[in-house]
Amino acid sequence: MKKIVIEGNHLLSGTVHIGGAKNSVVALIPASILTKGKCVIENVPDISDVRILIDTLKYLGSKVTFKDEVLTIDNSNVEPKAISEEFASKIRASYYFMGSFLSRFNTVDISCPGGCVIGTRPIDIHLEAFSKMGVKIKEDDGHYVMNTKKLEGKNIFFNFPSVGATINVMLSAVLAKGKTKIINAATEPEITNVASFLNSMGAKVFGAGTSTIEITGVEELHDGYVKVIPDRIEAGTYLIIGSLLGRNFKVDDIIEEHLYALISKLEDAGVKLKVGKNSITVNKTKNLKAVNIKTGVYPGFVTDLGQPMSAFLTQCEGESLFEETIYENRLRHVPHLNNMGADIKAFDKKAIIRGKTNLVGRKVKATDLRAGAAMLIAGMVANGTTTIYNIEHLLRGYERLVDKLNNVGANIKLIDE
Ligand code: EPZ
Repeated sequence: MKKIVIEGNHLLSGTVHIGGAKNSVVALIPASILTKGKCVIENVPDISDVRILIDTLKYLGSKVTFKDEVLTIDNSNVEPKAISEEFASKIRASYYFMGSFLSRFNTVDISCPGGCVIGTRPIDIHLEAFSKMGVKIKEDDGHYVMNTKKLEGKNIFFNFPSVGATINVMLSAVLAKGKTKIINAATEPEITNVASFLNSMGAKVFGAGTSTIEITGVEELHDGYVKVIPDRIEAGTYLIIGSLLGRNFKVDDIIEEHLYALISKLEDAGVKLKVGKNSITVNKTKNLKAVNIKTGVYPGFVTDLGQPMSAFLTQCEGESLFEETIYENRLRHVPHLNNMGADIKAFDKKAIIRGKTNLVGRKVKATDLRAGAAMLIAGMVANGTTTIYNIEHLLRGYERLVDKLNNVGANIKLIDE
């Protein structure tokens, strides 16, 4: 088990470079299965989710090299082997093998996806779309066997603009017979990143990034190339840290447009942000003001920054109202923040956060990936030493986290006990 020990309240100066987006690359890697051609994916973060997907590809018969943030993948010999619980249950994104296998092999045998315990996280929207496109689905105790003669393009309306289902339908439509239209599609930047990868292989995907995406099926795909977009969640997490502890703290290699909602809320709280070409510089801000946060789909305030932001709100004068609208159970970190001296009253998917509270270092745990980010922020601000257990959650989504922070003045130790 891994833990980190943080000596709090160190000012941070210097530059943090943002890596490729976890929530994009975990779709791009399974998407490479669609073609027998060679795929090159640049700006790949070295995080455990990527390592798990590389191992899965190798198990399926892929030839994969990963060097200097570049993934080179040759799936010409991949076979439609069953993807067991050993692989599938480790991450949520394993469900992207459904769309890519159905397109390439017309069949998939896969266990239920894993992922952070932040809600029930069903995949009904994915399954409903697949069956509309002519897939026969057998489900037995969370294990899926799906078959189709040939995927058929259809008009698919989503009751909810699901990120995963939007990507999965794109993967299943690119080689289908005829045209597919996704209505009420998710518009997150990661969708556009995946669409550009598919189009680099010769797919015909139009409208990615809008709520209507049209895909015209083609016969086959060829070599593909893509550069992973910057991780807006990693970037936002560091901007929040810099707003609390920065002294000329620069977050580099970002896309400002992907962070508009966070930037606006940090400015409302009184933070001054200096926006450069691909960077934002922030400083520790005194007399932060309480702001209300309501998470939502893009371009709203992204749910993945809700938990980190709740730690920030403990340092704002006044009463902030926080509301999570995407997941049922994304406030499991609240008792751990209160244990450090925060004053948060949580009920259902809402919380009232009263500040400013002086946080004190404690032994706490990360209940999920972004809860871990919230505890990291609290530990860095707190007086004294904070130990965060179950830190594997955090290391899934933040590449070289401890190095990046210690390089700008933090005092964090990663201990494998
Ligand atoms: C992706 O999850 C991200 N994960 C999540 O990031 C992110 O929070 C989420 O998109 C929203 O932005 C990856 O990309 C690997 P959804 P995904 O389908 O695809 C419900 C992180 O911290 N839903 O848009 O699962 C679902 O239960 C992670 O990096 C259904 O009901 O998101 C949830 O309440 C956490 N049925 C909501 O929709 C379905 O078939 C959003 O899910 C699918 C989803």
